[in-house]
Amino acid sequence: MAEDRPFHWEYRPEPVVKEIFRVEGGRPLSGTVSISGAKNAALKVLAAATLTGERCRFTNVPEIEDVRVMAETLAHLGVVVDHPEPGVYEVAAGDIDWLFVPLEAAARMRASFMLLGPLLTRLGRVIISNPGGDRIGRRPVDLHVEAMRALGAEIEYRYGYYYAKAPGRLRGAEVSFPQVSVMGTENAMLAATLADGHTVIRPAAREPEVDDLIVFLQAMGADVQRTDPDTIEIDGKRRLRGAEHRVLPDRIETGTFVIATAVTGGRVRLEGAPCDHLGGFLDAVARAGVPVACGKDTVEIDASNVGPGAFRPIDVETAPYPGLATDLQPPTCVLLTQAAGTSRVHETIFEDRLEWLAELRRMGAIVTIADDHHASIDGPTRLRGAEVEIGDLRAGASLILAALAAQGTSTIRGAHHVHRGYENIDGKFAELGARIERRAEEVPPSRP
Ligand code: UD1
Repeated sequence: MAEDRPFHWEYRPEPVVKEIFRVEGGRPLSGTVSISGAKNAALKVLAAATLTGERCRFTNVPEIEDVRVMAETLAHLGVVVDHPEPGVYEVAAGDIDWLFVPLEAAARMRASFMLLGPLLTRLGRVIISNPGGDRIGRRPVDLHVEAMRALGAEIEYRYGYYYAKAPGRLRGAEVSFPQVSVMGTENAMLAATLADGHTVIRPAAREPEVDDLIVFLQAMGADVQRTDPDTIEIDGKRRLRGAEHRVLPDRIETGTFVIATAVTGGRVRLEGAPCDHLGGFLDAVARAGVPVACGKDTVEIDASNVGPGAFRPIDVETAPYPGLATDLQPPTCVLLTQAAGTSRVHETIFEDRLEWLAELRRMGAIVTIADDHHASIDGPTRLRGAEVEIGDLRAGASLILAALAAQGTSTIRGAHHVHRGYENIDGKFAELGARIERRAEEVPPSRP
């Protein structure tokens, strides 16, 4: 019956609600705020729950749009997804009847591709959209596909979809990546948990969210270990069982609040914050002169005695964990507008992650973009409120940070990008004394 369904019939995401943030800047943040569960871990454990027909339960799941999209995508496959209370999801994948992940899901969220490994290894086939449609070249998924092929899958690419089959069980293998990939590592790991035999993944991504996924897989009965910092080994099992898991806290949200406090000259305590996971970011902010104190699961930032524009210029380079996270590069750039001198930024991971600096310029930042990977920022500048447009998640949060630091009022369009990955960001900033409002964007009436 499932085979009779046309491709685009099942999954109809609701239209995105267009919203703006209005921010009145220039007020130091002050108080305490709790850090939410990590987006990049929550999405993976939800996908991993399809490795078993038994019920899995997740707590500390952030209430964000990407989680909602993942839950909706799972539900359209026939997975039972319950959301009994905020932060809690229960997933039972006993009756998957539709092995098709459509373009509508993939276009909204790249992490939908995390369903490739688990569905293929447990159910033997899946048709899954190329995330980002046909824009091959930017954020491709070739590493995921090659990893599945190494495990014995047959995969063809036609008209924007990957048609993947496992003739019998996948088989354990050496999966060697030509470069480190977070989701590539995770997809290979999920596929290998039910494969026949031993798998070695090298180099495996070292991000804390990968280890959080390992903890959940072990609770499901999987035999998976990180045997070296860059090596993960798995012995495939025939079945996995249902399990419970608490998602680890979000290091990217943590870093975002560190910078927000610094650039507003504020004093904030972050609770449930994973100081140990901040890696190269902590080093960068320390070099720039941001006073940060780490506790067991708290981070305190006190920039109230640092004069405006008194941070030190630094050179930064993004890198896989434990280096400076590319997701924290945009917030770090906001800090560098408040450093006295020239800072240089080298974005090594993605080629479109510096484009947003053009919007930051509209708020008065002095930015020179040398090429797709290099920029310099001259400071200190007195940022001023402006009308700006958010192009993606991390850049969006960073424009809010700039607006909080700026004199005057900013209107920030494209708020939905931020809701994809930050839980209640406006509410959390408001709790810290920021003047931030969220409103529906007025759309000009269409012509008759
Ligand atoms: C994940 C994170 C994202 C973070 C990124 C890097 C999730 C949901 N997203 O994304 O927030 O910014 O890690 O830390 O966890 N690449 C290929 N072919 C592939 C896969 C990746 O060429 O098949 C390239 C990418 O274009 C990029 C590099 O490898 O240049 C690293 O990307 P990767 O680690 O795979 O990022 P994601 O897992 O997509």
